[in-house]
Amino acid sequence: MTKNKYTVTAALPYANGPLHLGHIAGVYLPSDIFVRFLRMKKHDVLFVCGSDEHGAAITLRAKKEGVTPEEIVERYNTIIKDTFKNFDISFDIFHRTSSEIHHKTAQDFFKLLHDKGEFIKKTSEQYYDEEYNQFLADRYIKGTCPHCHNEDAYGDQCEKCGATLNPTDLINPKSTLSGNKPIMRSTFHWYLPMQNHEQWLTEWLKKGVLNDSIQHDASKWKNQVIGQCMSWIDSGLRPRAMTRDLNWGVKVPMKDGDGKVLYVWLDAPIGYISATKQWAKENQKDWKEYWTGDRKLIHFIGKDNIVFHAIIFPILLKSHGEFILPENVPAYEFLNLEGDKFSTSKNWAVWLHEYIERYPNKIDELKYVLTSIAPESKDSEFTWKEYQTRINNELADILGNFINRTLVLTQKYYQGKVPEIHDLNSLDEKVIDHIKEIRNKISSLIYSYKIREAQAEAINLARIGNKYLADMEPWKIVKTDPVRVQTIINIAIQITANLSIILQPFLPITAEKISGFLNFKKTVWEDAGKMNLISPGHETNKPTILFEKIEDQTVTIELEHLEASSN
Ligand code: MF3
Ligand code: ZN
Repeated sequence: MTKNKYTVTAALPYANGPLHLGHIAGVYLPSDIFVRFLRMKKHDVLFVCGSDEHGAAITLRAKKEGVTPEEIVERYNTIIKDTFKNFDISFDIFHRTSSEIHHKTAQDFFKLLHDKGEFIKKTSEQYYDEEYNQFLADRYIKGTCPHCHNEDAYGDQCEKCGATLNPTDLINPKSTLSGNKPIMRSTFHWYLPMQNHEQWLTEWLKKGVLNDSIQHDASKWKNQVIGQCMSWIDSGLRPRAMTRDLNWGVKVPMKDGDGKVLYVWLDAPIGYISATKQWAKENQKDWKEYWTGDRKLIHFIGKDNIVFHAIIFPILLKSHGEFILPENVPAYEFLNLEGDKFSTSKNWAVWLHEYIERYPNKIDELKYVLTSIAPESKDSEFTWKEYQTRINNELADILGNFINRTLVLTQKYYQGKVPEIHDLNSLDEKVIDHIKEIRNKISSLIYSYKIREAQAEAINLARIGNKYLADMEPWKIVKTDPVRVQTIINIAIQITANLSIILQPFLPITAEKISGFLNFKKTVWEDAGKMNLISPGHETNKPTILFEKIEDQTVTIELEHLEASSN
């Protein structure tokens, strides 16, 4: 077994609101499954995240609520961190960009690039709000998108058509602070001359190779990621300001940097590095090992973050010179909710912390549904009806039913002791071959970031087991052919043991329960696929019900709740 080394990151959520199901389905759950699998493969893996506590997302929220930015980030950092913990997302560290170690790391990074001559200092005319005495970049300015004519485009991006913008691209610009039409005023900033990086970026993105030394498997990158990057590059990269005239953020570490902070998209991804530093400090490790050498850096993100992780951050990392570039940037599309987009402002959302409060014993159920509908290659949709159907028809009727039947029959016929296995017939052999294949199928799917299909294969194993019992009907022949029934139950027990292993990345709580029923626990991926995991004579326990069915009433209540609380 080759031991691979991974540093896996999940996009740092803005500490400006709680998490909803869309965030989870498209970043945190797939990355968690990926990492749990890598750990079972005994790879050396570090999984980092934290809250993104700078930028207009925070200050505008503070303004809206009439409180300080500090208050906002304190409140939501706590909520988000607790929610991840309660949902059992297995970060090695959940850090934050307001920490001292982060400010210092980001400043040192900026300074090093500055001293290497990687920036250009330039004065230009920028939009300015006279009432608020503030320059207006990014989300501080709104206007009409020149591409799709959406009237609510921001200075950095149009959320309707996805175009990346500069404030001066907007038609009819307006300040989001005062609502006034801005004036022009001159100011200087440090710019990253992105156009100088076009050539190597193109080579690296398309072929995966850079100077023979840096490599990734380009065939494993999603088409949408390469496509979005190439369309950005093809329309011509431009210098991008790496600083802003604001007072909330990481201070620019230059003599003439007063009143300026680092651009949030420079500061935030460096948060992955500072989180690593903090974790290394707490665990007596050398943080550099996680950002250098033959380690694979993987960024799990949503599609609105693609260019920042696949173009800008790689330019910064390469310009810095000491760090690895991402091996892959698995980006997810968006999840919709009951026919509409998730919307914080309209409160059209299922908030994860509220779900956990209402259904503390249905964590794996939600994980299962969200992975089944994960927006891996196109936008997808969560509905409470589908939540019910998938839990009832798949988790309860297939997985739960199979496990329950197997263990109940073992109790009934053999007082819980695993029976002997005797001669196999061709049907037994077919089932056994299937089990061996499934382990490898799942692992190659996960290594290719096809988490949704991987979970479907895992459930397929339960489906095979369920069908095997239904076809063999041991309850009909237990009197007439007890030897045959011993073989059937032994095989069903081995399938159950296999499920307790391969379900671990996807449904960790359920896998743990199955292990408890079996009195058996294996946590190495390669143990799956074997048919002699549990020896005859081994004692199993009485099972309890794994999944309760979801009543129609739950669906009705949830839909009413959604309608009533939205505006
Ligand atoms: N906070 C950003 C968002 O929610 C994501 C930042 S990812 C980072 O879109 F790591 F680069 F910070
Ligand atoms: Zn647009």
